Amino acid sequence: MLKGRSLLEPMDFTMDEFEEVFTLAEEIIAEPERFRRVCDGKILATLFYEPSTRTRFSFEAAMLRLGGQVIGFSEPGASSVAKGESIADTIRTVACYSDIAVIRHPKEGAPRVAASSTDMPVINAGDGGHQHPTQTLTDLLTIRCERGSFSNLAVGVCGDLKFGRTVHSLIKALSRYEGVRFVLISPEELRIPDYVRKGDLVKNGVEFKEVERMQEVLCELDVLYMTRIQRERFFNEADYIRLKDSYILDAEKMKLAKETMMVMHPLPRVTEIAVDVDDDPRAYYFKQAKYGMYVRMALIMSLLGLQGEEQR
Ligand code: NCD
Repeated sequence: MLKGRSLLEPMDFTMDEFEEVFTLAEEIIAEPERFRRVCDGKILATLFYEPSTRTRFSFEAAMLRLGGQVIGFSEPGASSVAKGESIADTIRTVACYSDIAVIRHPKEGAPRVAASSTDMPVINAGDGGHQHPTQTLTDLLTIRCERGSFSNLAVGVCGDLKFGRTVHSLIKALSRYEGVRFVLISPEELRIPDYVRKGDLVKNGVEFKEVERMQEVLCELDVLYMTRIQRERFFNEADYIRLKDSYILDAEKMKLAKETMMVMHPLPRVTEIAVDVDDDPRAYYFKQAKYGMYVRMALIMSLLGLQGEEQR
């Protein structure tokens, strides 16, 4: 039962609960008109303390397409945050006006603090370099719809594995599926943090290897998950500049990959995928953004305990 719960990390949901959300998302994709009014009278609050395009818009579009309404801020400077209000006080106040809240915050753990200060469901839309569970729901729904199953996949994850929260959540969630194998492609300085390497991969006996060169592993991958070097998390700009073009996937390199390999990216991209890959049928990143809206529709409904309308 997901009703009334929060989603702060992927592991807050069991595999069966993930399944429940995906099944509902697929029903919404098949018959969106059945769900047009299920959130009538409900309000979603979006509290974005960090920039966002896809995550905020997809949540807002999700709520609007379910017939609900949206309040929120994307410029915390224009709210009482600028006066020094704590996140606990902000969420308590927001809970007086809304039924469910989505929070993106630069501090790791901030959405958890918010969730522990209210009974309203709180969704983590990205906390610093930590976790981004709804991006993972998006990524998994994309693989499920486009490929059918997660089992026995060879998943390459490339770029900023240190600060990339989408990567941390993706590895946590995918590690639970049978036979999934990871190829972690990053510069030495941007390797996956120990809490993921030891806490998820090693602990669960998941097969993985860490490499620096993308070209040498492309041929073995079923999914290549590209990520942006997370400029805003670097302590100094010189390091960012040195590392920013570590990986550029282009049409030439795509020749080394399987005919069926899926190229994914949470977006925004900077230079890590050349635009000449966009028309390759193996490029899934814009489709992925669309799946993000459907899976968030399913998530909102599940946390609010709402069902689709009966067909007339
Ligand atoms: C990601 C994020 O915010 O972590 N974006 C997203 O939500 N789709 C990835 C990124 O910013 O690089």
